[in-house]
Amino acid sequence: MKDQLIVFDTTLRDGEQSPGASMTREEKLRIARQLERMRVDVIEAGFPAASNGDFESVRAIAEVIKESTVCALARANENDIRRAGEAIRPAARGRIHTFIATSPIHMEKKLRMTPDEVVQQAVRAIGWAKEYTDDIEFSAEDAGRSDIDFLCRIFEAVIEAGAKTINVPDTVGYNVPEQYAATIRTLIERVPDSGKVIWSVHCHNDLGLAVANSLAAVMAGARQIECTINGLGERAGNAALEELVMAVRTRQDVFPCDTRIDATQIVPASKLVSGVTGFPVQPNKAIVGANAFAHESGIHQDGVLKHRETYEIMRAEEVGWGANKLVLGKHSGRNAFRSRLQEIGIVVDSEDQLNHAFARFKELADKKHEIFDEDLQALMSDEQVTPDHEYFRLLASRFHSETGETPQAELTISVGGQETRTRSDGSGPVDAAFKAIEAVAKSGTELLLYSVNAITTGTDAQGEVTVRLAQEGKVVNGQGADTDIIVASAKAYLNALNKLHNKFEKLNPQV
Ligand code: KIV
Ligand code: ZN
Repeated sequence: MKDQLIVFDTTLRDGEQSPGASMTREEKLRIARQLERMRVDVIEAGFPAASNGDFESVRAIAEVIKESTVCALARANENDIRRAGEAIRPAARGRIHTFIATSPIHMEKKLRMTPDEVVQQAVRAIGWAKEYTDDIEFSAEDAGRSDIDFLCRIFEAVIEAGAKTINVPDTVGYNVPEQYAATIRTLIERVPDSGKVIWSVHCHNDLGLAVANSLAAVMAGARQIECTINGLGERAGNAALEELVMAVRTRQDVFPCDTRIDATQIVPASKLVSGVTGFPVQPNKAIVGANAFAHESGIHQDGVLKHRETYEIMRAEEVGWGANKLVLGKHSGRNAFRSRLQEIGIVVDSEDQLNHAFARFKELADKKHEIFDEDLQALMSDEQVTPDHEYFRLLASRFHSETGETPQAELTISVGGQETRTRSDGSGPVDAAFKAIEAVAKSGTELLLYSVNAITTGTDAQGEVTVRLAQEGKVVNGQGADTDIIVASAKAYLNALNKLHNKFEKLNPQV
């Protein structure tokens, strides 16, 4: 029997720390459900002490996720730990992940604490966390630049205090594989009772080594890998889940362990995270890039046709490519629609929402004859992000674009329930649509990102648009999908405005 390698996903916490990747509670719930479907062992759902929004998101995830452990991050202080403990209270399995920095530079310049004080604080943190759960993870922030003797000392102390998982983060992505593996090996050899805990790794990608460092550490005895979908994360990101999982699975001849991950859920997870955050996946990205399994050269194509394994070390279907089989069409009924939603894990809150979504499915099926799982995902995410009660809603649109003429957009928008007509011209129809919306919304926001992706193949595919807006230091992503990309763009812009509106409304109800 091989050891189990625990997959700890931190897309919703470290991933969300990427500038511009902030997610709403509903988006986090959708991602958490997909991670659970993929059989991720631990979902780090957020940092509850950071804001009320973070607290609520972790709590909502703890309420619905049953199979994966739901983890909350906390600095090693009483307030953070109590917030984390309260947030995970509803979880079937809840973990508190507490951390304190251990490198000389962090202790001296950031914490302004002596090494003795740091050890003392870490031990007290474990004590507070034990009031909520036995499943406690301790991280030595910037372990990659910490003194090995000091790491041994602090880890011995927190293990004695009750920590069950010991994480050794390369916080600034400074390590190289041999060195990082040696650190893990030394810690396991030298720390008393090291066999009673799980050794975990958390690598950042500043030198492009996050995956290599994590895998070297697994060879040295680590049995938990911390990672994110698409490698999302602070600065250059974290180790990519899909690369770690598939490296270990494909090279079972060299790795002494394997994960429980259902790899066919990898590509849907990648698309979901990319759609929600607006961070596109580069075409040549391993496993989840559009070209990851495409063979261009004649010699390769010939080889693959004769015998697949000549140039392919994994099968595209194994990681969820090609799962976009035709599922429904314009003649499909309400029951088929409902059961396919269930099969791909989309939860419909009420019969009303189902009826509404089914009507929109029929409209889509009229425009686009073949409906794939990705279309359903986009349709339902649109349905969930633009419900009837949203402040801004697109009711109708007309665009004009002709050679030699200035493009124009005419929109009818519901603003707080009031039907409003607006029009503008622009350098193109998308620009005109955004200006028309701004003429009524007067949000004064800055457009940080505009991106369009085809959801499936073919010219009748739906375009999925992401719009990132900034207003007074707040950054939100809006999404919209439609077979008409100008309409999708207008929907995405309005979705981003709704998110800003909801944020301000919650903070200050009279605004
Ligand atoms: O990179 C890091 O050190 C972290 C810790 C909080 C684990 O994200
Ligand atoms: Zn990190």
